[in-house]
Formats: sequence, C-alpha cells, structure tokens
Amino acid sequence: MTFVQRLTFSFVLTAAFFTGCETTPDIQYDREPAVRLDAMRFGGVELDYATLLFDVEIDNPYPVGLSVPRLRYALISEGRTFLTATALNNVTVPPNTKKVITLADEVTYARLLRALDGEPGLTIPFKAELTLSLDTPGSEWINLHVENEGYIVLPEPPEIEVEGKMYNAVDVVFVATPQDVVDKMLQLAEVKKDDLLYDLGCGDGRIVVTAARRYGCRAEGFDIDPRRVEESLENVRKNNVGHLVKIEQKDIFTLDLSEADVITLFLLPSLNANLIPQLEKLKPGSRIVSHSFAMGEIKPDKVVTMLSREDKSEHKIYLWITPLSKELGE
Ligand SMILES: C[S@@+](CC[C@H](N)C(=O)[O-])C[C@H]1O[C@@H](n2cnc3c(N)ncnc32)[C@H](O)[C@@H]1O
Repeated sequence: MTFVQRLTFSFVLTAAFFTGCETTPDIQYDREPAVRLDAMRFGGVELDYATLLFDVEIDNPYPVGLSVPRLRYALISEGRTFLTATALNNVTVPPNTKKVITLADEVTYARLLRALDGEPGLTIPFKAELTLSLDTPGSEWINLHVENEGYIVLPEPPEIEVEGKMYNAVDVVFVATPQDVVDKMLQLAEVKKDDLLYDLGCGDGRIVVTAARRYGCRAEGFDIDPRRVEESLENVRKNNVGHLVKIEQKDIFTLDLSEADVITLFLLPSLNANLIPQLEKLKPGSRIVSHSFAMGEIKPDKVVTMLSREDKSEHKIYLWITPLSKELGE
C-alpha cells in the first residue's frame, strides 16, 4: 500500500480506568485489561475519504473473548484538536491473550486537510487520545483511555483523469444539499417550465431531478467524479426524468454556460469565485443560486437563511440575477 505510513511512537503509553457506573464489571478478576497504542497510520486514501488505522495492543486477562465495539478518539496537532470522532468496529481479543488489533475509521480527507491547514506530503506532529469501550464478561462496559504522540505524513490522494486532466480528492468532496434546501433554492431561482437549469457539480443528481419533477424543465448535471455521475444517472432513472435530464462527466470549468437560464451551485467559495468569468457570459435575467457560499465579492441580489428540517442546521442560499452586479458584496 503506497499510502501506509507506519509510525513509531516515542512515548510510553498510559492506560487508565475511567471511574463511574460504566466502569465496574460485575465479576472481579485478578487482573484487568490493559491497552497500549502502538501506532496510528493511514490505511489508504480514496477519492473522498481516508482510512485512519489505530494499532492497539490489548491484554485480555478474562477467560472469554473481549470485544471492542466502540472507539472514541481525538487528534490534536500543535495544541489544536483537528478531529474528534467515534468509530464502530467489530474486533474481539481471544481469552487470556495479549494481541495487537487494528481499529479503523473513515474520515473525509479533504476536510481533514482543511482542518489541519495541511497539504499532502506534509509531516505533522500529532497527539492521539483514544477511549476504547470494552464489552466485559460482567455485562458492564469499561472505558480504557490511551494516548500518545508522534508524527504522521499526510498521504497523497489518488487522482482521476477527466478529458486528459488530473483531479484529486480535495477537489471532489461530495456533500448533498438537504432536500428542503434544494426546494428553497429552486423556489428562490423562480424556475419555470421553459428554463434550462445546470447544476455544476451535481453530486447524486438531486437538484436536476427535483427541478425536472417539480417544474417540468430541462436540466443538466455535471460532475467530475465518475461515481457521482453513476449515482445521478441512477437517480434520473428511478425518477423517470430521463427525457428532461442529462448527466455528464465534465469539469465544470470547461463548460460554456451561455445557454443556461438557471445555475445551481454547492461548491466552495474559491470554486464559486473561479467560475465568475464563465458566469459573466450568462444571458441577462439568468439566475444563479448558491448553497452556503458567496461568489468572490460580487454582491448577491438576495440572501436567505433557512433552518433545514432534515439536518436541523441553518443554511444560507445566495441569489444573483445576471448581469452580475459591479457593486461589491460583504
Ligand atoms: C458539495 S457537492 C454538491 C452536490 C449537489 N450539487 C448538491 O448540492 O447536493 C459538490 C460536487 O461538485 C463536484 N465537483 C467538484 N469539483 C468539480 C469540477 N471541477 N467539475 C465538476 N464537478 C466538480 C464534486 O464531485 C461533488 O459531487
């Protein structure tokens, strides 16, 4: 595996029992389980996630297997916690055995890099704090805490080739817009039956499918990631809107947008800003709606904030009507 970076820890590891009602087993044994964190490493990086692996030595003194179903962990670099997460694993240490087990978790690699302000190839110092929940023979759970420090190399993400150009995982993060936010975006854009709508970076195709179903308009979704294109095509098939919706694997920065009446975006602030030269070529009266992010300093015609019932979070939606304002926004 190219991305595996095995680390050696230089610190002595500590294992401590947490006190409280969760921590007292019903049955008493001479010895209690002990844990030691040997290494943290990357198991690989896919287009939109990375697998983090923790090699933990567990000493099981019990005459029955000890399962480790839950791992909570925090990763800290230079005093700043950049990741906290809970991972569920299905690992058991055999009776009366000391064994190194590997606990895994998947994280969104682009977010991890952003949180660290780091780039692939960089070596970063980190501290890992792990709490392992052990299912003991006494039916109670015990939580064991281990922590250690080391260095880790941020692996290079894989690349995909689209029309001769290479793109990596950092460009292609897929997070779907909640359906009620999609509905609000289309309402804000005042989509009509005669409109042609483009979703730039269409993900699972929910925006183009909703536009076709609700407004009966034509819609095209473009995405660089072949898996998203597959998902979108499946979504189009499931909803029987193939006569209205087209999905293409394209880099949105190569598109001629001049035919579109409505553009929908849920990208990143930098990507929105880079799209400005293409968006300036839209016909007058075209509507651009962006979920979450502004577009450089171009003043929006409207900004709406809504609370999504789906994820219980606030979402901002920006609307611009072309020609784009020369006035600067906030
Ligand atoms: C945050 S998702 C939004 C998905 C969908 N529009 C929605 O709102 O639910 C962004 C999408 O943009 C795609 N993407 C990122 N950069 C791209 C590019 N240069 N060309 C085409 N698609 C891109 C990603 O693959 C991802 O599926």
